[in-house]
Amino acid sequence: MKTALVTGACINTGVAIVEKFAAEGYNVVFTGRNMEKVHGKEKEYREKYPNVGIIGYHIDSLVNDTTVNEKAVKELFDDLDKKGIFIETLVLNAADQGLGQKIFENPLTDFMKVINTNVVWNFCLCEHAARRMKEQGEGNIVFVNSNTAYRAIPDRIAYETSKGGQLGMMRGLALDLGKYNIRVNAVLPGMIRTDRWDKNPEFYAKVPSRYTPLGDVANGEDIADAVFYFAAHARNTTGAELVVDGGNTIQLYPIVPEK
Ligand SMILES: NC(=O)c1ccc[n+]([C@@H]2O[C@H](COP(=O)([O-])OP(=O)(O)OC[C@H]3O[C@@H](n4cnc5c(N)ncnc54)[C@H](OP(=O)(O)O)[C@@H]3O)[C@@H](O)[C@H]2O)c1
Repeated sequence: MKTALVTGACINTGVAIVEKFAAEGYNVVFTGRNMEKVHGKEKEYREKYPNVGIIGYHIDSLVNDTTVNEKAVKELFDDLDKKGIFIETLVLNAADQGLGQKIFENPLTDFMKVINTNVVWNFCLCEHAARRMKEQGEGNIVFVNSNTAYRAIPDRIAYETSKGGQLGMMRGLALDLGKYNIRVNAVLPGMIRTDRWDKNPEFYAKVPSRYTPLGDVANGEDIADAVFYFAAHARNTTGAELVVDGGNTIQLYPIVPEK
């Protein structure tokens, strides 16, 4: 039985990814930042998927909001080694969304936090996971990236920079790790329906998220399906991008719905 590690899986898209892998018969290791939430979610997942192994770890990307917490990543993988668990699939879902960061108002440290989490911390996870995959002669890594790597939205410069950087990292890893039979790919969602929609319905009602050829936004399951495709089915695919945005980014101008 294979094991997948999914980061940031106590809420939203991460939950859908854990559930997809568990439903497909994978053991799943997941992370979140809050110990109580991780324990609660671990209990829920175990009740819902009794036939697979589920373990949660609480881990934050940064120490004091500044330095990348490499020690915690090392401890996580050492603990998995001790338990005899090999991570065959690493899904890098967690992200600092860097919401509402304004170029003339936010301090530089806000920009650095986003880059440190989305790029440097993810690289650190890849390095520790890939070392074990190399030993085992197999493995794959999937980034949950974003179509904002290619098209900008307001007040998200750090986030867009980080997602563009992730794609460069994805290609570099794919090139350097291919010889060890390790594949590295990225899913690029457009807008995903999350709990932020319920918390802020007025804002999301105004977002032109439906202005796409398919006329709808993704849900977590759509993203989980694409992640699972790369992990389980794309045997000869590496360094690839799969955009899941209803066709939003192929447009020269958005299709505005009649009502
Ligand atoms: N939502 C969208 O519309 C959208 C669109 C395009 C791409 N994406 C991408 O899809 C993925 C999932 O999006 P989402 O909206 O479901 O995410 P989300 O609701 O913002 O959840 C993000 C997850 O990342 C974790 N996280 C945040 N900062 C962290 C840090 N400093 N250290 C460790 N973990 C951290 C959070 O942990 P806690 O639970 O502990 O807070 C949470 O589990 C992300 O990579 C995002 O960039 C999302």
